[in-house]
Amino acid sequence: MFNWHRPKTNFLQTDLHSHLIPGIDDGVNSWEEAIDILRQLSELGYKKVVTTPHIIQSYYPNTPNQIREGVVKLNQLIKNENLPITIEGGAEYLVDEHFRNKLGQDEELLTFGDNYILIETPFMNKPAFLDDVIFSLQSDGLKPILAHPERYTYLQNDFEEVKKLVDNGTLLQINISSLIGYYSKEAKRLAGELIKYNLVSFLGSDIHNQKHLTQVQKSINSKLFQKCRQLDLLNSSL
Ligand SMILES: [Fe+2]
Repeated sequence: MFNWHRPKTNFLQTDLHSHLIPGIDDGVNSWEEAIDILRQLSELGYKKVVTTPHIIQSYYPNTPNQIREGVVKLNQLIKNENLPITIEGGAEYLVDEHFRNKLGQDEELLTFGDNYILIETPFMNKPAFLDDVIFSLQSDGLKPILAHPERYTYLQNDFEEVKKLVDNGTLLQINISSLIGYYSKEAKRLAGELIKYNLVSFLGSDIHNQKHLTQVQKSINSKLFQKCRQLDLLNSSL
């Protein structure tokens, strides 16, 4: 079908948040599912994907090497299928005691682009040491990106805290599906506020499966997504 009018994600170029290596976290279940999602992402207009498996010591104790191996395999499949998209490896680090203890121990952290590192926190409570962790990462020359701030209840109720994080140099990545309220009404509201005040540095898909991709496809038709074109986004610099 002739669908030239369908909104695309070309202005983003690169997605920096997804779970496309099967078997190592709660993301895709098979290589077939991964490649199918990558094909659809390329059809949406993406040229590059940074896939970011969870690193959570108690559930998904992944290492940079394991993730790199998965990315090699995905690159092979992309080549076999001749897809016009490239893939790189990153990780989504949960900021917990374990992560905090890792810092300053000479252990490799998986970064991407210009020394970016994607971090997440528990949804309900801000870790008491979050500010210290962010400062410590920055002292090591890394640029922390906080994944989906709009989904954290401790930020939904405290916009001053959001501003403090941004003032401290934390880059914010909102999930595209938050723009249509996929996660919650509150998450959509905070995403709208972050866009209004131009506090967003990255838009991410956070795709774990086909269901998530369908939500992203829906979201790019939203007014809020179109509004994101006016933001100072860094996706295309990756
Ligand atoms: Fe994620």
